[in-house]
Amino acid sequence: MAREVPAVFGSVFHPEMPVLAFENGAWQPTRWQSSSEFTLAPAAHSLHYGSECFEGLKAFRHADDSIHLFRPDMNIARMQQSARLLHLPAPETEAFQAALVELVRRASDIIPDAPASLYLRPTLIGTDPVIGKAATPSANALLYILASPVGDYFKVGSPMKLLVETEHARCAPHMGRIKCGGNYASALAWVLKAKEEHGANQVLFCPNGDVQETAAANFALINGNEIITKPLTSEFLHGVTRDSVLTIAKDMGYTISERNFTVAELKAAVEQGAEAILTGTAAVISPVTSFVIDGKEIPVASTERGTAIRKAVTDIQFGLAEDKYDWLVRV
Ligand SMILES: Cc1ncc(COP(=O)(O)O)c(C=O)c1O
Repeated sequence: MAREVPAVFGSVFHPEMPVLAFENGAWQPTRWQSSSEFTLAPAAHSLHYGSECFEGLKAFRHADDSIHLFRPDMNIARMQQSARLLHLPAPETEAFQAALVELVRRASDIIPDAPASLYLRPTLIGTDPVIGKAATPSANALLYILASPVGDYFKVGSPMKLLVETEHARCAPHMGRIKCGGNYASALAWVLKAKEEHGANQVLFCPNGDVQETAAANFALINGNEIITKPLTSEFLHGVTRDSVLTIAKDMGYTISERNFTVAELKAAVEQGAEAILTGTAAVISPVTSFVIDGKEIPVASTERGTAIRKAVTDIQFGLAEDKYDWLVRV
């Protein structure tokens, strides 16, 4: 199976995974176990009260066969923040990063060539087997990490039609910056409805007209020389790709505007030729091809700028451009 890219994103895993347990009030040494099965008490806190959060990051193979993680410090910090906000024990930085690096080394044979990569899925779950703890945090937890060779999540060059949803939020506003399963469950009904009723690929959540993000990626409007995206609030996920795009785009000469903007502004800009992108570890940088606003489809005139920004980011990831921001960690 060496270096094959599975047809279904995230469906094939390296056979072993590191497990870091928080037990008796302390993080225990990393142990390695099978990634195909798992013993968990049916009463485990995470299964009942949602004490669960996860991360998504990638490792890339360069032309010289060296392997590099992309900005793992950002994902570690975000999981620590998610853990704190969910009242789960926050993983320790060094042990977490060491487990990631060791996993990538062990899985190196299955890391595909560019433009595919190895997706890593750290997952933190509350394990206390007590169903009476609805209003009490889990004292014990497990952090485990899956490694999965992946190709495109969104096929490059395929349509990206976004339904603009103004009535519903993706999740509760105080939960948005937490990368937890409950937020995806909260968004699913609207995503399915958008697909069924409008043939939309994704939903752009804009509660009361405030342009936020999609169910699995951040959103930015590219209006001429200005890149507009919502400033970091508790309402949405603070993407690593978003941060990388804003950093690179600034160096490419764009003006970066992290500010609130409305569907009315978005609509007017797109009608006058603005571009738009989705950004995410899985989504990479995916240009939007059309919006459905108030039942009417509005095409996006160009994907040129978004495509150039995508290339600038992926060239660093795959070692084709200088890593001038020091984002790669060689394993
Ligand atoms: C809801 C949501 N927003 C934004 C992102 C983008 O975050 P990142 O760039 O860190 O992958 C993701 C994950 O990819 C996501 O699931």
